[in-house]
Amino acid sequence: MGVVSLRLLGVGTAQELRVSQARGRAVVAIDTLRAATTAAAALAAGALAVRPVAEVEAAFALRGALPNAVLGGERAMRAVPGFDAGNSPRDYPPGLVAGREVILTTTNGTLALGRAHAAGALAFAALTSAPLAAQWLLAQDAAEALVVMSGTDGHFAYEDALTAGLIASALPAAELDDLMLTALAAYEARRGALRAALMATPHGRRLVAAGFAEDIDRAAAAGASPVLPVRDSADRARLIAWQPS
Ligand code: MLT
Repeated sequence: MGVVSLRLLGVGTAQELRVSQARGRAVVAIDTLRAATTAAAALAAGALAVRPVAEVEAAFALRGALPNAVLGGERAMRAVPGFDAGNSPRDYPPGLVAGREVILTTTNGTLALGRAHAAGALAFAALTSAPLAAQWLLAQDAAEALVVMSGTDGHFAYEDALTAGLIASALPAAELDDLMLTALAAYEARRGALRAALMATPHGRRLVAAGFAEDIDRAAAAGASPVLPVRDSADRARLIAWQPS
């Protein structure tokens, strides 16, 4: 463990990530608002695993095969009719998810995970889990890793850059490309006011207008998650909880 130097290469949106770029590499996909925050919350609440799925129809079909699973996620920020839960971290309390798998479909975050399917190792990070993502990257013992900021509907998202920047700040010896240097500068500028920074983003403003201000509080709690969602090496369709040993 602990390569001499780790290069962190940023990718600005899920759509920009090429399958060939991810192949065999360590990849951290980021969706700060809200999918990666929610996936970590569900695992911390005792969910056995989170199964990210790109499409709503595929999520319903998977639940047919896994009838005990919790079906969750969003379209246009709101729970899909017929789902058990939306995309708020608070939708996944232990009483609902402990001992169960969660099928999760969201607009951007699960798309990034899908595009990173060829990765050698894959984690799903937000501000809450970013310090763990830095530790996980070190544990991969890789010379190079991709940090994919999911973005929103194909556009770069500042909130994802803040998480990428926190990861970079926790890895001071890492070599950063221009996008990661920019992310680091964004994080360092707003590290004392992350809630306000999230609130000021276009997606943050949409979430507040839709009544999800509480989710911004949860998402802004940097380092609060005890677990990081990472791909299960035994079943690549699942994210499971990772903690440093
Ligand atoms: C997404 O994956 O697009 C987001 O998590 C959307 C949301 O905030 O619900």
